[in-house]
Amino acid sequence: MPFCVAIDGPAAAGKGTVARAVASEFDLAYLDTGLLYRATGAKTYEGLSPIDAAQSLTADDLARDDLRSGDAGQAASRVAAIPEVRAALVDFQRAFARRSGGAVLDGRDIGTVICPEAEVKLYITATDEVRARRRHAELIASGEDVSVEEVLENLRERDERDSARAAAPLIPADDAMVIDTSDMTIDEAVKIVAQIVSQAM
Ligand code: C5P
Repeated sequence: MPFCVAIDGPAAAGKGTVARAVASEFDLAYLDTGLLYRATGAKTYEGLSPIDAAQSLTADDLARDDLRSGDAGQAASRVAAIPEVRAALVDFQRAFARRSGGAVLDGRDIGTVICPEAEVKLYITATDEVRARRRHAELIASGEDVSVEEVLENLRERDERDSARAAAPLIPADDAMVIDTSDMTIDEAVKIVAQIVSQAM
């Protein structure tokens, strides 16, 4: 039976960590849809147009090790504003969302565009400062040399672009449950989401 958990929200709100943990707990497949846009953005550096990059995306493109950087996030949010790029990535995401064993997807438009009929719809957020501190810690751990202020500026620029675009903007679905993780540990957020998912199953 298809069972979809749709998790949207701004950059570095803890969506990925929560989504991964819940997928593992309930034995659901997990798709980080941001990776599709990051890989598309990275391919444009090889001279491909954003649309060609999205249309020719392969599993190998998603395995690059430079996709988590701040620059890759910016490139992703620029290509993500192009309607044809989004259109090229829709079918794969929709099929994933409705796979028979159930799935968790996180991104910006999962509850609004990719899987509006999702059994669980969440919008996970946190203050800009909390998100910047969390992402900064991740980037430092992965060896990037960057300040919290730079990370904060990068997140705000990306959120503004993602919220302002005409195509599938970042916005909570009308029927999404909004969870603010500013004052929670990630473990607490995982517990809350796991409870919501188990009640919907
Ligand atoms: O989630 P992540 O930060 O990896 O996403 C990178 C960028 O990809 C976002 O800033 C956004 O512009 C774009 N994105 C999107 N729709 C999604 C997932 C990501 O537009 N479903």
